[in-house]
Order: sequence, then structure tokens, then C-alpha cells
Amino acid sequence: MELKPFRLERYFAKYEFTAPHLLCCSDCESLAVGDLLKFEQNAHEELSSLWLGYTESLGSPELRTQIATLYQNISSTQILVHSGAEEAIFNFMNVALATGDHIIVHTPYYQSLGDVARSIGANVTEWKGNPNCAWELDLQFLKENVTERTKVVVVNFPHNPTGYLPNPEFLHELSNLSNKWGFIVFSDEVYRGLEYNSTECLPTFADINERGISLGVMSKSYGLAGLRIGWIATRNKRLFDALAAFKDYTTICNSAPSEYLATLALCHRHSIIGRNLGIIRRNLSMLTSFFSRHQDFFEWHEPKAGPIAFPRYLGGSVEQFCDDLVRHAGVLLLPGTLYDDESDCFRIGFGRSNFTECLLTLEQFLVNYK
Ligand SMILES: Cc1ncc(COP(=O)(O)O)c(C=O)c1O
Repeated sequence: MELKPFRLERYFAKYEFTAPHLLCCSDCESLAVGDLLKFEQNAHEELSSLWLGYTESLGSPELRTQIATLYQNISSTQILVHSGAEEAIFNFMNVALATGDHIIVHTPYYQSLGDVARSIGANVTEWKGNPNCAWELDLQFLKENVTERTKVVVVNFPHNPTGYLPNPEFLHELSNLSNKWGFIVFSDEVYRGLEYNSTECLPTFADINERGISLGVMSKSYGLAGLRIGWIATRNKRLFDALAAFKDYTTICNSAPSEYLATLALCHRHSIIGRNLGIIRRNLSMLTSFFSRHQDFFEWHEPKAGPIAFPRYLGGSVEQFCDDLVRHAGVLLLPGTLYDDESDCFRIGFGRSNFTECLLTLEQFLVNYK
């Protein structure tokens, strides 16, 4: 297995703790431990007396019970907790794929969703959203490219980096195709709950399909990336057992304080998500007016969900633009080339509280930038 450097993470490693204006983050504004503990009267005491031995490998029963409430047809025994979504992606690809297998991946994609499969020797077909049509995915493409060797189809709704969200009919059709061909759908739902119009929230894939997997995490919609708590939900018992056994070779079990805090946060998820959606709505309206003032520089594609979007830079090389911006103004955007996208798009994030000041700095930079 030979893994290529994770370009997006390497880019963040260079700038995340040095650039003063992070304008491309994909997570929502975080909270301090004390903010979470304030949700319940005895939480402080419970955390202080928490035992720091090994925890249950599948995840703490309390946490798995809370996570299961996010689903309609999934019980706590069908939840497997991981260290972030990243561990779940890595383990799933290793369990589900072998050299020569075929996988189809929603593109552009968060790098590990395609590159772990490549490193295993699987053949990856990129299923690209249409940039001229709000990054819509065409099911016809899937029908034309699926074969007997197709083991996995990866989708990511709401989508990183475009904010694309299909309708429920799309998801049901995908489920029918999975039943017909026997491939497993790995549905990355880490931005679920951040739909701007709640009626557009999709059912989870694990709820509608017995073979498929839904991936969730505390990092994005809840803004609690530092907990490193992610999970998979599935009714596919064989796959669940194989994933649980594989985890013995990666993290064995999760951090007890993280599990405690994640359980607490999920008990109060409506407050946390409500706050985060408030921040997103306020920032998105500022961003929309910003792009209408700067149509000479950018082409704006309004997302449907999540804290990120993927507009296009019209002035030439997006890499050069992002490089000039971070070096001269300390504002970090992510060039689309980090996603292997060559259309001069870039990722912009608007889930954080300091967004106004970051956007203002970008706007000042544009005054003298040609
Ligand atoms: C679509 C998607 N999936 C998975 C992950 C990994 O999440 P985590 O860093 O919380 O493990 C990310 C992180 O950016 C993501 O955007």
C-alpha cells in the first residue's frame, strides 16, 4: 500500500496555525469544553470522575445510543464509533476493497475517499458533478459505468466542496441500483444537518438501504473536530463485524473524555446545530453580496447546504491568486487544484464567527490586485 501525500491536509499543515485569516475551513465554529459542560448541571463532576482506562471498542453504549437517535431504522448495535470520520474511511476501504476491484467516487472528493482505494490497487472511476449545473450528479453516468467488478460507490451529500445536495428520489434510485448490482454505497454524510432549507434534508443512506453505510462525525455540523469522534451506521452485519475487527489494528478504542463530551453534545444537538446554522446564514448573506460586488473577479455558485462553497476565480490561475492572497494578506483560501479540479475554483468557508473580518481583509486585498 502506497499512499500519496494528502494535499489538502499538507496545505493546512503549512498555514492553519500561522495564517491569521482562515477563510476556507470546512467545520463550524467550535466550542470550549466548559461551554459543553454548561449544558447539564452534573456534567463537570461526571467528567472529573471519568475513568481513563480502555473503553469499549465499538464505542461507549451511551454514545452509540445517542448516535442511533439520528437515524430512523438503525439501532445502537449498528453504530461503530471511530476516531474521526477519517479512520472510518481508511478502515472501510481496506475492508471492502482488494486489488483489481472497481470503485466509483463522487468527484471532486475529499482526498481519502478516492486515494485510499487507489493505494489498495482498486480502479477508481470519477463520477464528476456538472459545474455548469450546480455540480449536479447524473445517475445515467453511474448506470453506464457500473460493472460486476464494482464493489463500492462513494457519495458525499451535502458535498465537500460544492455544497451540492440531490433530491430524495436520486437517493432512492441509487439504492435501487445498489440492490440490482450488489455494490455497497459508502455515503459520507458528515455535513448532514446543515441544509439551509430543512425540508431538503435527505434520509440517511443506512436508513433506506440494508447494504450501505452512512458516515457521520462530530467535526463538521457540530464544530467539535477536536473530539475526534466519528462513526459508521449500517445494517450490513458482515461488513460491520469486519470493520470492528479491523479497528483492532488502528485505534482499538476511542478516548473516554471525547466519548463523554460527544454524548453530551448530541443530547443538546438542536442547540448546537441551531447556533451553527445561524452563523452560516448570516455569513452566507454577506458572502452573496460580496460576490455580487465582485463579479469581475468571481463566478459564484450558491451551495444548498454546509459551511463551504466552490466559486470560480476569473482572473487567471487560482493557485497564484490563493498564494498571493495568503502571502500578502494572510487570508487562506483553498485552490481547487488540491481537489484535482482544473477549473480555477476555490473553496471558501463560512461556518466561523470571525468570517466578517476575514472577508473584509479579502475585499481590501482585491482593491489593488489585478
Ligand atoms: C467529506 C469529508 N469526509 C470526511 C472528512 C474527515 O473528517 P474528520 O477530519 O473529522 O475525520 C472530512 C474532513 O474534512 C470531509 O470533508
